[in-house]
Amino acid sequence: MSAPFQAGVAVHHRCGLHPPSPAALEQKLVVSGGVALSGHVRISGAKNSALPILAATLCCDDASAISRVPDLLDTRSMAAVLRSLGARVEWPEGADGGELVVDASAAGAGPPCSNELGKTRAGFLVIGPLLGRFGEAEVGLPGGCNIGARPVDLYLRGLRALGAVVEMKQDKVVAYAAKGKRLTGGTFYLNYPSVGATETLMMAASLADGVTVLLNAAKEPEVSDLAEFLTACGARVHGAGTSIVTIKGVSKLHGTEFTIIPDRIEAGTFMVAASITCSKLSMSPVIPRHLTSVIDKLSASGCTITQTGRCSLEVSALKSRHSAGLRGFDFKTCPYPGFPTDLQPQFMALLCTCNGSSLVEESVFESRMTHVEELKKLGAKIHVCSRHVLVNGKDRGSLLFGAPVMAHDIRGGAALVLAGMAAEGTTEVLGAQHIERGYENFVAKLNSLGASIRRNQDAQLTLSSIM
Ligand code: EPZ
Repeated sequence: MSAPFQAGVAVHHRCGLHPPSPAALEQKLVVSGGVALSGHVRISGAKNSALPILAATLCCDDASAISRVPDLLDTRSMAAVLRSLGARVEWPEGADGGELVVDASAAGAGPPCSNELGKTRAGFLVIGPLLGRFGEAEVGLPGGCNIGARPVDLYLRGLRALGAVVEMKQDKVVAYAAKGKRLTGGTFYLNYPSVGATETLMMAASLADGVTVLLNAAKEPEVSDLAEFLTACGARVHGAGTSIVTIKGVSKLHGTEFTIIPDRIEAGTFMVAASITCSKLSMSPVIPRHLTSVIDKLSASGCTITQTGRCSLEVSALKSRHSAGLRGFDFKTCPYPGFPTDLQPQFMALLCTCNGSSLVEESVFESRMTHVEELKKLGAKIHVCSRHVLVNGKDRGSLLFGAPVMAHDIRGGAALVLAGMAAEGTTEVLGAQHIERGYENFVAKLNSLGASIRRNQDAQLTLSSIM
């Protein structure tokens, strides 16, 4: 047994209880600044595609083999949720090596493990497959990143439109099909193109009696990937990727073999890594059309972005190393195909190192700003007014220098690592376990490109926080 980090953990081992999960340990990254990156980075499968597709395996009467599921705390949590419902989940050996097999033939309506559900918002997605296949569900309200209220009213109103009786009971939702054991198709207008609500209703409607029409549906590539998976399982889904999705319910779904699309947010994060360090990186696999808004903004700042193959890109900011630097730019986050909110923190870090003042508007989540105060600790000159942020570039006072900072969510944590690579001196990023939720081998990939990031776990725990 390896030496535990602190007495508290040692005592824990002696009493034979499980050691604390990585998420319970405050993980710290020590990031060296002033680095130049180079080389090629392999992009993992999309977290936000893998999570709904894992939930969708509950719709199926037999096994599915899914390739390129990223090995993350969030996908591991989803696998635990599936197991708690009676599904068999076999995780592939080795990184990026194999297929994740999920066999939900013996799964039941649950309820799912509330502890695992609380670790990620995506766990709540299972309410759709459970209602669709079993006609009943009892699911705890979602956890996940603290970037806003993140209600589920659209999920619940949509399920009611499919003939479900839905009740909120303290911290969980209890639902069942009003007529017998099956939902009934219906038409539902989403007053906001919610990704999760669209995905949940697509899964529920796939096994409902009749036709469902979702109006103002989310158009994200991950929604389309889920529709592809459901269709491969025998569902009849049309219009995914547009704002009108039609689903003709079928009696049952079978398993399939499937490969997850590349993670456009991870790719965008590495595009910022190249830009913020005035470097050149290539990356694959990517789907360039998923990154149109990102390519547009980085090109406007002075980066050179080249499609070097059907599924590969090269991003160069080398010129800015020997010139005045990149130009700032304004952006507003929007539902796809607009600028992705999941790249807002990373791009805000980049804007601190550009020239000029830039205006950022976060229109998707009402409080996705936890990284702002942390960037200020590194010397950034940023002013926030509700959802609008004025970012002053390096010629307006933002000169980044290393300091201790705290990651509060997945993307904010990644932004702090990127800023630390550009800062002068060393930056300590606490709360790095948040980053592990959303990026596969993030530190190893950056170090393989020339970054210098060291990890250490300060087990800032007391027995009370473990027991
Ligand atoms: C998905 O979250 C992603 N997560 C998020 O990525 C992403 O930021 C978000 O879509 C937007 O693209 C996964 O796919 C697992 P929404 P989701 O429902 O489905 C409001 C990351 O870092 N809303 O589209 O939760 C909501 O409050 C994560 O990878 C309601 O009002 O996002 C928010 O303001 C973070 N009522 C807006 O819609 C509802 O019932 C967008 O939420 C549902 C949502």
